[in-house]
Amino acid sequence: MARKVFVLNGPNLNALGGREPGIYGGKTLDEIEADCRALGAELGFDIDFRQTNHEGVLVDWLHEAGKTAVGVAINPAAYGHTSIALHDAIRAIGIPVIELHLSNIHAREPFRHKTMTAPVCVGVICGFGPAGYTLALQALANHINDQ
Ligand code: DQA
Repeated sequence: MARKVFVLNGPNLNALGGREPGIYGGKTLDEIEADCRALGAELGFDIDFRQTNHEGVLVDWLHEAGKTAVGVAINPAAYGHTSIALHDAIRAIGIPVIELHLSNIHAREPFRHKTMTAPVCVGVICGFGPAGYTLALQALANHINDQ
């Protein structure tokens, strides 16, 4: 049976495609989901792909993942920079979480350089545009297989 992996997306990522394509690339979130499903099938992952603009919903989904999934790839978007609640949820769930950002947050405004979530993730992928999602899934597969 395929192992469930959650791919979680935070605020404003529903606007991808039209939202600052010079920074985030031209793919829509639906197109990114299709890429994740295609690679997920190769990796033996059953991809549960979700987006919300609400912090508490991300917390609830992380808890759900902790009970049902083998790992999580998350683009927390702006909440990554601010959310102690997401930091605590990732610590609490006991499954590997990989953080990703489409843009290189370290080459942008100083308020994006820090992430509250990165210290409790296995690692962070940023700066590779939409490819960051499939890179994160590959990294998750490598990490799980090494465990
Ligand atoms: C982002 C980077 C964040 O700083 C920003 O708030 C986002 C998107 C990214 O994918 O590059 O909404 O997470």
